Amino acid sequence: MEVIVTEDVGVAAADALAPALRPGGVVGLATGSSPLPVYRELIRRHRAGRVDFTGVRAFLLDEYLGLPEGHPQSYRSVIRREFTDHVGLSDVRGPDGDTADADRAAARYEAEIEAAGGIDVQLLGIGTDGHIGFNEPTSSLRSRTRVKTLTAQTRSDNARFFEAPDTVPHHVLTQGLGTIGEARRVVLVASGSAKAAAVAAAVEGPLSAFCPASVLQWHPEATVILDEAAAGRLRLLDYYRSVQDHKPT
Ligand code: GLP
Repeated sequence: MEVIVTEDVGVAAADALAPALRPGGVVGLATGSSPLPVYRELIRRHRAGRVDFTGVRAFLLDEYLGLPEGHPQSYRSVIRREFTDHVGLSDVRGPDGDTADADRAAARYEAEIEAAGGIDVQLLGIGTDGHIGFNEPTSSLRSRTRVKTLTAQTRSDNARFFEAPDTVPHHVLTQGLGTIGEARRVVLVASGSAKAAAVAAAVEGPLSAFCPASVLQWHPEATVILDEAAAGRLRLLDYYRSVQDHKPT
């Protein structure tokens, strides 16, 4: 894994996404707070005429089950509001959480990603329990898009987006760890000390379904972009900095 420690996570991640931002490019988008600086930077670049989203296609990682499509906290609404509406990116797909047949919706989503030729660059956040997408601890390392039940910790972490904690859905549809691992490049962003333990487990811990993000250790093109606080528990931090400072030419 490439580990980049920077005070501008948004700029570094926007640079990493740039190769997918071309006609026919397929980008994987994440929701939550972590990617917001990345989206702000991409909106800035779009307004400055530095990046064009014409012909770009986007796939979301996950979706709550049972929220109607127009619900303000459905991830398809969130991504439009926070990002895609601001850059003219209209081809945005997500798992269909408003369905009576979630297994069928999951299989359809896998087929849509495949039909698009797969994802060029997948942006990821990380949960405090080490989840990526909504792959909670003990998720199969080869899982595909499917229904998952959220842990109490994740429901509590995400309660800030809902009117009341008990209205956070219990179930979601999420790309599996196997699905995410097929993206040609993955870029994980994390900020703040609340993520430091999960980041350390993902980057330096054993490969384990107990920390789902550790599956990225298998990925040949995984970049982890962190602010100082999120990097705070990495044992080899000095080494990562020296790699950053002495890139081979
Ligand atoms: C949610 C999302 C993840 C996200 C994670 C962290 O549960 N499904 O994709 O990475 O939470 O969220 P945040 O960035 O808000 O801390």
